[in-house]
Amino acid sequence: MDAKVVDGLSHIEDAVEVLKRGGLVALPTETVYGLAADAENELAVRRIFATKGRPETHPLIVHVSGIDALDGWAREIPETARKLAAEFWPGPLTMVLPRGPRALDVVTGGQDTVALRVPSHDVARKLLKAFGGGLAAPSANRFGHVSPTTAEHVAADLGTDVDLILDGGPSEVGVESTIVDLSSDRPAILRPGGVSREDLSRVLGVDVQLEVSSTVRTPGTLASHYAPRAGVFLADRSTVYRRAEALEHSGQRIAVIGPRQRLPGGVALLEAPEDAEGLARVLYAKLREADTEGFDLLVVQLPPEDGMGLAVQDRLKRAAAPRSS
Ligand code: TXA
Ligand code: MG
Repeated sequence: MDAKVVDGLSHIEDAVEVLKRGGLVALPTETVYGLAADAENELAVRRIFATKGRPETHPLIVHVSGIDALDGWAREIPETARKLAAEFWPGPLTMVLPRGPRALDVVTGGQDTVALRVPSHDVARKLLKAFGGGLAAPSANRFGHVSPTTAEHVAADLGTDVDLILDGGPSEVGVESTIVDLSSDRPAILRPGGVSREDLSRVLGVDVQLEVSSTVRTPGTLASHYAPRAGVFLADRSTVYRRAEALEHSGQRIAVIGPRQRLPGGVALLEAPEDAEGLARVLYAKLREADTEGFDLLVVQLPPEDGMGLAVQDRLKRAAAPRSS
């Protein structure tokens, strides 16, 4: 049987029904597609972990319809969270706050905090409003693999393990939300994403730092993650040609992900924008395309590190990290 992909906007009520009976719905967000379950139904949340092959100790983001729907999810809402919400919600920002009574252990991994986000995608907003409660939703891919940015990606990865896949077109941002920890006095970025470090710092009036941590609290921060099957090599504009040329001797099929440019004879181009925002939008689709097309090795042209470049560099470095299997 095929995975059930339906038009998102016209199937909100069907999705609510699936969620109310403890099922799983893949839903479009502006960052990536999420695999959603009723965050207050422990069995349903366990199905997310089973379906993704994700260790149960790795906490999930709870999606809600707005800051006024945070009641019971967060124990307290600090002034910093209100400022950020006013500026970036709905949108690609996740806030880690002291957890409230509605946040189950299975969602938080037993921690004293909970990650909360208000997505801006039309389908996600309408679904959250119609559902009423919170939706626990990690990216709708198998654990460790490339996140999905289209309904087709979800279907290819998870197939009939999902009860319903809501199609909302390609995700506009293309990389996951920025996760900012506001549970202590010093705000810190746990995962760079769709909202830039510069914008967070500007709104909070402090220099918000990226907290480099390798704890399993944040699986998206494990060394090898977001990885396609093909091997990934990184270059900048001036080294793409040489990188590709050096790999050519391996006799394997090689492609470059980057803007149109002169390349060694046997090397293919998977064309992508040079700027960070443009690259973010298509990056995961290009990594998946490379696998479908059967390339063995990829050279990806990195964007500069400012703005969205921080998130894109982060994902690409993890995709390029040594694999454990
Ligand atoms: O853009 C996104 O954030 C997407 C869409 C679907 O909303 N979701 C997403 O979920 O990327 P996932 O599960 O792939 O990543 C969630 C991240 C994980 O790295 C997890 O460890 C972290 O959020 N996280 C969840 N709760 C946390 C907490 N209480 N403290 C620290 N990190 C937490
Ligand atoms: Mg993920």
